[in-house]
Amino acid sequence: MPAKIIDGKELARRTREQLAVTVAELTETFGSAPGLAAILVGDDAASETYVRTKRRQATECGIRSTAHRLAGDTTEADLLEVVRGLNADDAVDAILVQLPLPRHIAIRRVLDSVLPYKDVDGFHSRNAGLLAVGQAETVPCTPRGCLALLRDTHGDDEAGRLGKLAGQHAVVVGRSSIVGRPMAALLTAENCTVTLAHSRTRNLPEVCQQADVLVAAVGRPEMVRGEWVRPGATVIDVGINRVERDGVSRLVGDVAFDEASEIAGAITPVPGGVGPMTVAYLLHNTVELYRRRRAGESGSG
Ligand code: GUN
Repeated sequence: MPAKIIDGKELARRTREQLAVTVAELTETFGSAPGLAAILVGDDAASETYVRTKRRQATECGIRSTAHRLAGDTTEADLLEVVRGLNADDAVDAILVQLPLPRHIAIRRVLDSVLPYKDVDGFHSRNAGLLAVGQAETVPCTPRGCLALLRDTHGDDEAGRLGKLAGQHAVVVGRSSIVGRPMAALLTAENCTVTLAHSRTRNLPEVCQQADVLVAAVGRPEMVRGEWVRPGATVIDVGINRVERDGVSRLVGDVAFDEASEIAGAITPVPGGVGPMTVAYLLHNTVELYRRRRAGESGSG
């Protein structure tokens, strides 16, 4: 039986709708709207598109957004200066440094220069560490969006209160600090049994076949084949890869969708699966950071 197609676009729309209500209430209470600042270095076309989408949807939710565009040859010192300015700006609740950065810039130094309580991506070492020890504060947007899709697909509520994922074997393919590692930590906190696989994993197809929940985040077009999928499994495809097929440019995921959708129980499409959820949880994190600052939890005033 063909898989249920998980509609990320629709869940993201519902998430943003609820956020807009929350933002309106908080803005009324505190007298100013949440503020999101995006930093973009260089002219990567995909990053431009992502930042434009993030800003448009932020505005639609009632969040103020600003963009700081820097040339591709900007020095690390100048970029750090821009971050320092935003750290000190009281109107900015959330700072996003769009990745990738040009190769001459040390990514970790930049990510760790963002104040942890303004770190909307959850990429600061402190936030990554808190997630790793089960004390998460701000969680990276893509894995958080994947978790929301899994909870919804498995009939759990959005806080995971029914614990429907507990005991499932989740295999995450890809160990990036943006998706794979935080995804594994989130699924562990959800009481899944988690295997974090990657390009050096032996017998990767057999490992994937053990998965009740399979999350593919490797950045390789259609690497996960249909026969790697256990019948009835839930497949979350994080990949967004642009490929040329028969002279036509199209987007494909890390999973061979046509094959896998014949075997899986449920599967996310590309596009329209994980992508919209990443943006929805960016807005969610922005509102959370704003709420915590206003409540004085961060000790930042
Ligand atoms: N580049 C790819 N994914 C992301 C993301 O989630 N956040 C940022 N800042 N950059 C990215």
